Amino acid sequence: MKVAGKHYRTIWMDSKTGEVSMIDQNALPFSFEIFIARNYQDTCHAIVTMITRGAGAIGAAAGFAMAQAFMEGARGEGRGVNSADYTLEQLFFFDKVRKEIEATRPTARNLFYATERVYNAGLISVESAIREAQLLADQNIADAKQIGEYGSKLVHNGSRILTHCNAGWLGFVDYGSALAPLYIAKEQGKEFFVYADETRPRNQGARLTAWELQNEGIPHKIVPDNAGAYLMSQGLIDFVIVGADRIASNGDTANKIGTFEKAIVAKEFGIPFYVAVPFSTIDFSLTDGSQIPIEERSEDEVLTYSGPDSEGVMRTIRMASPGSHALNPAFDVTPAKFITGFITEKGLVKPEELADFSLDKPLKH
Ligand code: MRU
Repeated sequence: MKVAGKHYRTIWMDSKTGEVSMIDQNALPFSFEIFIARNYQDTCHAIVTMITRGAGAIGAAAGFAMAQAFMEGARGEGRGVNSADYTLEQLFFFDKVRKEIEATRPTARNLFYATERVYNAGLISVESAIREAQLLADQNIADAKQIGEYGSKLVHNGSRILTHCNAGWLGFVDYGSALAPLYIAKEQGKEFFVYADETRPRNQGARLTAWELQNEGIPHKIVPDNAGAYLMSQGLIDFVIVGADRIASNGDTANKIGTFEKAIVAKEFGIPFYVAVPFSTIDFSLTDGSQIPIEERSEDEVLTYSGPDSEGVMRTIRMASPGSHALNPAFDVTPAKFITGFITEKGLVKPEELADFSLDKPLKH
């Protein structure tokens, strides 16, 4: 997508130097900055601190981090760049780094999908690791665009749409998942309105989704997280669309905390609830959502609030009762029965059809 007329991917890697550049999502929407990760540790730091975030972007970052580790591990005298040349020490290193990367954001399925793919490629050669990581980033864009094409059919002139968190292009390498259909619909000349949940505690909706929508010229309003039931009861929402961080084979879906509540309310009011995801977010090794690990983040995210003061200096203030502690689960799991359909790169899939698909199987209808 474009920022001030210039096209950007959310994250990219220089195959020669191994440097990974990413849009700093903690600086947005107040300033537009690029963070450069010179090694896999920097990239892991960026994932943990949410400089880069969102299922798809985390996946790309994890793939790049794994490739950086192969570049680093294979550097130096007497060390090979092909599997046959790897020493035991190098192999231990690659394995250790893979575990380190996978510990950064445990709920995000795309992260594990990417580390596995790049790790296996890296065992062939360093070159293969780099190629695979770049390929995953390109695939991420292609899938997101396809999701956008299919999902745009659900958007009509006058549609009023509710979304939660940020599943826009910042959450992927480009286009996004939940917002991709809206970008394509906008390109098709459709006029519609978006309500963006603020998405406490980190406010990805108020900060990132709102910034993206504004950037694309899509009319929208930020709404408090607890306004969903009211809006739906007033007949103000035609459908809900969200992204996902991990989906079990039965369709149970982990997404940003608060998603589950929206899905229950949507069902109560007979409002369609869509989840937009690439198949790389589906974890076919899990039978249901109870097996999805839920990341718990620092209580500071709940107890404090950050933003620029009148001079533009970033400040963090406490906004909760001093002495109280907070619980901060980052995700919840929406049972499949509340989900109308998954908008995927292979088309619209009903929850009960999901298990029939794997990455290699084409959609039957
Ligand atoms: O904790 P975050 O901001 O990385 O949250 C993940 C998400 O971006 C959302 O849950 C999103 O809706 C899914 S995918 C972009």
